[in-house]
Amino acid sequence: MLENPCYDVKLTYEENYRRGPFGRFAEVLEQSEAKNPSDEAAQRGEAEQGHAGEQGGQASFLGFTVSKPFGIPAGPLLNSHFTDAAFRLGFDMCTYKTVRTRAWDCNPFPNILAIHPKTSTGFIAADSHETEEGLLADTDYQEPLSISNSFGVPSQDPDVWQPDMQLAMQHAGSRQLLIPSFQGSRATGMSTADYVRDHVTAAKLVMETGAKLVEMNTSCPNEGPGSLLCDNPDLVGEICESVKNEIGDIPLMIKLAYIPDDVTLQHMLDVTVGHGSVQAIVAINTISARLVDSHGKQALPGEGRERSGVCGHAILRSGLDMVSRLDAIRERGEYDFSIIGVGGVASADDYRNYRSQGADAVQAATASMWNPGLAASL
Ligand SMILES: Cc1cc2nc3c(=O)[nH]c(=O)nc-3n(C[C@H](O)[C@H](O)[C@H](O)COP(=O)(O)O)c2cc1C
Repeated sequence: MLENPCYDVKLTYEENYRRGPFGRFAEVLEQSEAKNPSDEAAQRGEAEQGHAGEQGGQASFLGFTVSKPFGIPAGPLLNSHFTDAAFRLGFDMCTYKTVRTRAWDCNPFPNILAIHPKTSTGFIAADSHETEEGLLADTDYQEPLSISNSFGVPSQDPDVWQPDMQLAMQHAGSRQLLIPSFQGSRATGMSTADYVRDHVTAAKLVMETGAKLVEMNTSCPNEGPGSLLCDNPDLVGEICESVKNEIGDIPLMIKLAYIPDDVTLQHMLDVTVGHGSVQAIVAINTISARLVDSHGKQALPGEGRERSGVCGHAILRSGLDMVSRLDAIRERGEYDFSIIGVGGVASADDYRNYRSQGADAVQAATASMWNPGLAASL
């Protein structure tokens, strides 16, 4: 049984936000409390990495220098306490959990459950029989670890997250990168034009923190249960253009869900990268599946929660597949963009696999939560 993740799955999101991080993440914060924070920021990215890094200890991502192009994607790092700890543990590319233009409640507890695919490999495919029939979900966290997360992308009010995001950025070491993630909110009664504007406002609020690059999430079910913004590439394209007009030369990255067919993937790139509005793709987000308990009943309580996003080991093959197809399009020479590979990464082999499929950088969410030594082991 795996224990002591940085996010305590037995507590609510609010308790984690207030009291976290936990486990080894909390210990590294305590150990450094006595030190001068500015000395520490200078040291981070160097002595505390515990790894040799690439090409003499550094790599470049979108023009930013990092010791290792590896870190934690949007999700597990709820605020600057979490990002501070992650940087100290050698995760050099840390994404601050997705924020919105307004405070937004979290889905009811529980928000995380362990998942047990029946396949011999432990992998699931987006359109498989199992994701429709129901995957067993419980509290037995075992390796290879797959989980489901159902948060509904909660956000603090900008008055709270803006100063905290600024702190998170300031605390990154000299060869580390804090990536802010945002998304638009589809509030009741909003027109599509309002929805587009909400993305632009969110990007503007993030820019006010001094962000040097931004990530826009298009792949959480913010369009209603089971429906994602990235299911509509033309709307993604329209939003990206408006956001890019707001942020100017600052690189825009978009987070995508797994897109199974090449025609849609190509179309997504045509209307984003092809229009010059997007400089990097982050892929993949979770894969939606029906979750059941040991009696075959709905595992997560409440309406609209029959399905939830699966991540960790179960989606490794899908993440690698998406990255290699993105790289194939890039190799044809049509477009120039960077790729962050995400999905099921839990070891140095997985990291190398993603790099060999074309990822310029790699991030691990699920595995990093339970394995604080992951970055140092690469
Ligand atoms: C606890 C948790 C919260 C997440 N929240 C977000 C989020 O706010 N925004 C987002 O774009 N992705 C979010 N994700 C998805 C991850 O960024 C990632 O795409 C997904 O978990 C696959 O990576 P993994 O297999 O390494 O977990 C979350 C994932 C986890 C585990």
